[in-house]
Amino acid sequence: MSLLSWLKFSELGDERGNLVALEQDRTIPFEVKRVYYIYRTQPGVSRGFHAHKDLKQAAVCVAGKCRMVLDDGKQREETWLDNPARGLLIESGIWREMHDFSPDCVLLVLANRLYDESDYIRNYDEFLAMTEAMKRG
Ligand code: TYD
Repeated sequence: MSLLSWLKFSELGDERGNLVALEQDRTIPFEVKRVYYIYRTQPGVSRGFHAHKDLKQAAVCVAGKCRMVLDDGKQREETWLDNPARGLLIESGIWREMHDFSPDCVLLVLANRLYDESDYIRNYDEFLAMTEAMKRG
């Protein structure tokens, strides 16, 4: 099964341009408690390199593009985020990396929990051990 779960947003476009509305439990399939955005990422910088124990997120590139890598400990998939009308749903227990940010990239992320550093797994070996432990139940 693919790790890439897309949310398709309706574009409310008219002759003036486009508009996308993101709504909790409608376009976004969870309670939205936090929104953050990553922008003006410096050339050659990659970000992420962590998983979350209990956090749902939706990532949408509202300007520019970046390459998202998702990894569940068994398989690794990647995709470009380059469409403001499409969001990538990222469930708990998924390692993520973001690479190749364009200079104009604005990556918007919605999350179902407030920021909590203790929810992060920032070490890849620790992440693999967690996915192994989850498989064993
Ligand atoms: P971090 O999660 O390390 O960024 P990356 O997306 O590259 O993994 O976050 C960078 C810093 O910002 C770190 O000190 C934690 C802080 N931070 C918050 O305070 N609130 C947030 O919602 C997020 C995402 C990060």
